[in-house]
Amino acid sequence: MSQHPKPLIAGNWKMNGMRANLSELGIMGAHFTPELRKITDLMICPPFPVLGLAAEMARGTGIHIGAQDCHEKYSGAHTGDVSANMIFDAGATAVIVGHSERRIDHKERDTTIASKAQAAMDVGLQAIVCIGETKTERDAGRAISVVRRQLKASVPAQADPQKLVIAYEPVWAIGTSLTPTNADILEVHAAIRADLKRVFGKTAGSEVRILYGGSVKPNNAREILALDHVNGALVGGASLKAADFMAIATALA
Ligand code: 13P
Repeated sequence: MSQHPKPLIAGNWKMNGMRANLSELGIMGAHFTPELRKITDLMICPPFPVLGLAAEMARGTGIHIGAQDCHEKYSGAHTGDVSANMIFDAGATAVIVGHSERRIDHKERDTTIASKAQAAMDVGLQAIVCIGETKTERDAGRAISVVRRQLKASVPAQADPQKLVIAYEPVWAIGTSLTPTNADILEVHAAIRADLKRVFGKTAGSEVRILYGGSVKPNNAREILALDHVNGALVGGASLKAADFMAIATALA
């Protein structure tokens, strides 16, 4: 893996995480040594009720806190929703948008995801935009075209590349212990990189981090993170326990 951009290992806790589970965040912080901080960024994205608490706990540890979704507007009559500026106000520095679970559970479309990403960037948050094909799409040989289409439509037209992170998460690899072959990951990441360079120019397009997500575990992290154009990982299940998450983070060392 090239040293630029600096890798990011981000943990998506999904709908897991009570206040008591924040002790894991405390352990992660204690193990995020100055040496490790030099080679990787770390982030945990807990559910909303503990977001502010997590941000307070993470202060001074170097671990960034992110949210898992935001609304495209900043205020108003949207019962149950949370805006990007509220997330920023809670002390987070990033937000995941367009996760396949939201695309499926909440029927989120690319245009909505692009608006959410823009809202996040406008308040100074990093937007982690998720894209990825289903098993049917991969089996039909359409993985690359699906991912490129999602990338084009889910990244806002006015995106700030410095606030953009792309997460390639094949839907069929999430929570299944299945992963694409290294060659398949490489092919998709290279295609994403080429498109980012076309949109943002060679330099800015090369600086956008492209994370791989989907069944990243301590035992496969090293080989996945070593692939070209893989600038980190978006980790689900293995981010809930500090021991697993830090084993993934130190796979880079
Ligand atoms: P798993 O690591 O549990 O497969 O989840 C991946 C994911 O969806 C992260 O956003």
